[in-house]
Amino acid sequence: MNDSIIFTPCQIGPITLKNRTIRSAAFENMAHHNRPSEALYNYHTAVAKGGIGMTTVAYASINRSGISFESQLWMREEVVPDLKKLTDAIHAEGAKASIQLGHCGNMTHRATCGQKPVGASGGFNLYSPTFYQQLTEPEIDELVKDFGKAVTLARKAGFDCVEIHAGHGYLISQFLSPYTNRRKDKFGGSLENRMLFMKMVIQEVMKAAGDDLAVVVKTNMKDGFRGGLKTDECLTVAQELEKLGAHALVLTAGFVSKAPMEVMRGAMPYKTLAYYMNMKNFWWLKIVIRLFGWFIIPSVPYKENYFLEEALQFRKALKMPLIYVGGITSKENMETVLNDGFIAVQMARVLIHETDFINKVYNGLEKSECKHSNYCIGRMYTEDMQCHHCIKNLPKKIVKEIERAEK
Ligand SMILES: Cc1cc2nc3c(=O)[nH]c(=O)nc-3n(C[C@H](O)[C@H](O)[C@H](O)COP(=O)(O)O)c2cc1C
Repeated sequence: MNDSIIFTPCQIGPITLKNRTIRSAAFENMAHHNRPSEALYNYHTAVAKGGIGMTTVAYASINRSGISFESQLWMREEVVPDLKKLTDAIHAEGAKASIQLGHCGNMTHRATCGQKPVGASGGFNLYSPTFYQQLTEPEIDELVKDFGKAVTLARKAGFDCVEIHAGHGYLISQFLSPYTNRRKDKFGGSLENRMLFMKMVIQEVMKAAGDDLAVVVKTNMKDGFRGGLKTDECLTVAQELEKLGAHALVLTAGFVSKAPMEVMRGAMPYKTLAYYMNMKNFWWLKIVIRLFGWFIIPSVPYKENYFLEEALQFRKALKMPLIYVGGITSKENMETVLNDGFIAVQMARVLIHETDFINKVYNGLEKSECKHSNYCIGRMYTEDMQCHHCIKNLPKKIVKEIERAEK
């Protein structure tokens, strides 16, 4: 028996988790041909077996145009039976199952998403070098419906919860941020207007969720660069999400195209990133990353519970349940956050490092061995998600990079 607050039940909308731990959405890159794979099944089943209250399948695209990786889940009728197998296995281990639903907006390429990429406004995407175009109003209406359809598919597949991705510079976030939204119509201009797309999406999602599916929204506390959303504006966004009836918010920060390390902190292991890159037509990008990665993707200092200060401002200003994520590696980290009024904690890297971290904490472990070298992040863009300690014979330059980061 462990009497820590971590192991007390937790309510999110209509569902109850057996404890206050959630595996956060961390892209697995395991959905080959955009379908669930055995590797995805094995990973989430292992996390469920490892004691988690709820595990989140990451970054599923609501439709074809929202896919930014070849091995990313795409919500459609034909993947429902395999997802059902996965949620059945998670439930059999006593955990709840959640799925993160989103649309990458402009962060993709025609070769991946099957059409000219779309965004809140048009422009050029350096991240996967391509032009993208501004969504029209009828396209926006279709996209909103696609969010609802994806929620319906998630329910059919047996998920208990959906997590709508409204942060990190993906489509909803691209509408919210003045940096990516330069529209002159009712979706652009004031923050009120820039929130309109998010409002339409959440209303549709809440309708589709009915009264048995929990709805969590992952939202930014700041975009993390000059010209992006600041904390006071993000607070207004969070208050709007509270009014819209979302059951809980996951508080995060960062913007993949401008401030990616704000999300996870520490240094991007750019040698690892370049090593695994296999960009057919963009081989030169690999060279640019190898030479100038340190400059293009600046590091942001890491510390334990690195979002807590900002998250506490949100805790004060909101009544709704809030979920903390960012820099949790120990029992103490979790207890601090839970005692500060957050209903649950999410973790990514410690559960990539060891899927049974929660059971270990239950049985007396104080701290994870995960040292946030961020190898898993450098690898994620092209390879399946893995921690370096699971891989034999890594090249010397990568081993050195990990060692340097772990110091
Ligand atoms: C390999 C990796 C992949 C990630 N992919 C996603 C993702 O698909 N969606 C998302 O919202 N956050 C993603 N994140 C961010 C995590 O969900 C989490 O917010 C962040 O890593 C901080 O938590 P941690 O300190 O426990 O790792 C990812 C993080 C990692 C390490």
